[in-house]
Amino acid sequence: MTDTKKQKAKTPEHVAIIMDGNGRWATKRGLPRSMGHRKGAEVVEKITKAAKELGIKFLTLYAFSTENWKRPDEEVSTLMGLLRDYLKKDLEEIQKNNVRIRFIGEMNMLDKDIVESIKRIEANTAKNDAMTLCIAISYGSRQEILAAVKKTVALVKRGDISENEIDEKTFSDMLYTNDMPDPDLVIRTSGEQRISNYLLWQIAYAEFSFTDVHWPDFDENKLKEIIENYASRERRYGKA
Ligand code: IPE
Ligand code: IPE
Ligand code: MG
Repeated sequence: MTDTKKQKAKTPEHVAIIMDGNGRWATKRGLPRSMGHRKGAEVVEKITKAAKELGIKFLTLYAFSTENWKRPDEEVSTLMGLLRDYLKKDLEEIQKNNVRIRFIGEMNMLDKDIVESIKRIEANTAKNDAMTLCIAISYGSRQEILAAVKKTVALVKRGDISENEIDEKTFSDMLYTNDMPDPDLVIRTSGEQRISNYLLWQIAYAEFSFTDVHWPDFDENKLKEIIENYASRERRYGKA
């Protein structure tokens, strides 16, 4: 562990955000929680553009956790409705931004029409290369890790790989995030300082930034401020 391993961080290649606080934002204004989710969905678009302009190459957004299925049916329906709207977005508009969109999570928990739209949008944007936007839906990191363990065991059983070949790289390849670098920076809005089952394996050496701003109030300036703060940090083992 020498100091030569320390390196000044630059623009993070991969930023992962826990978009929290939609409910509190609405409640504070005497509005139903659904209004907070609606406003929060609008912010996704703004932040995607801002991240691309800042030179971020991968942006992963936590939109719905496996635990979120336990919320009241009405709230789950609102959130799924917003996802449907997002997936119906004008393809021309999406292609103009040259952003590749992909999804991670337990797709078998989602309604069929949503899964089909997800597949369509992933295929239609697969060649876009300005930035990758990864949306975590019905996502839980422990579930992802367990699924990876099961896949690995199956490969060993079939004789496709030997036990000795299991290493960090082969294991990472079994995760939903296998075509993305690990996040350099994790941002959580709305004051909570916990990870809530998000990318546990992938954030082993990530930097963290917690802000009190509720997600519907999060904007380009706040993102820029956090990225600037990140750039002034000294990182070990993470990328420059
Ligand atoms: C984040 O806002 C959106 C989702 C988790 C789907 P919340 O709905 O968690 O808002 P708070 O935390 O209750 O304020
Ligand atoms: C985490 O937020 C999940 C998402 C942002 C989608 P929650 O608001 O669901 O997290 P907890 O339950 O308070 O930890
Ligand atoms: Mg919350």
